[in-house]
Amino acid sequence: MENRARIAVFISGGGSNLKALIDATKCGILGGQVVFVVSSRKKAFGLTYARDENIDTFVFKKKNYESPERAADDLLNQLDAHKVEYIALAGYLSLLPANVVRAYRGRIANIHPALLPKYGGQGMFGHHVHEAVLASGDTESGPSVHLVDEIYDNGRILGQARVPVQPDDTVDTLSARVIKQEHKLYARILNKLIRGEFDSSDDT
Ligand code: GRF
Repeated sequence: MENRARIAVFISGGGSNLKALIDATKCGILGGQVVFVVSSRKKAFGLTYARDENIDTFVFKKKNYESPERAADDLLNQLDAHKVEYIALAGYLSLLPANVVRAYRGRIANIHPALLPKYGGQGMFGHHVHEAVLASGDTESGPSVHLVDEIYDNGRILGQARVPVQPDDTVDTLSARVIKQEHKLYARILNKLIRGEFDSSDDT
């Protein structure tokens, strides 16, 4: 059997993107396997998707460690122990420790619910993003998948999908339209990353 890339997915909440990635590995859209799920919250609903599939889970809270360095080392050890090759952030609300970013540079993706570089950065998550889009009067929005570096929502954009913003949209209607596209886009772009279809020469 062909070697399948080993993916860790990081979540903080509902985990619908985690579920979509797991489904995509089953139907072959994503040539990899989700071998590890890390959550910043013990009660994240998304952890149930991992448990249903017997995927190892790990609740990672920096405040439970003596120092940020200890926390970062433990996380990296956990990723090593699961032989993780790629990391997919899917609604993960913390900044990844710098040692993890260094160790996986060019192999960490994130999905963001707006057309970066607009509406990104610290504090731009969940409803804040869609509120900003609605307030701007933009006529389109949509998810972006990008590489992760040390700065929130800053790395190279790997792919985007576009949806219209309707005049009568609310945060709920717009986010529902965007997340539907997230579930298709993330697996497709992650698959391309794993297949080496993005030139890595200009990744920083
Ligand atoms: C998604 O909108 C994603 O773009 C953002 O956080 C949300 C996570 O949703 N980064 P879910 O937990 O995957 O349902």
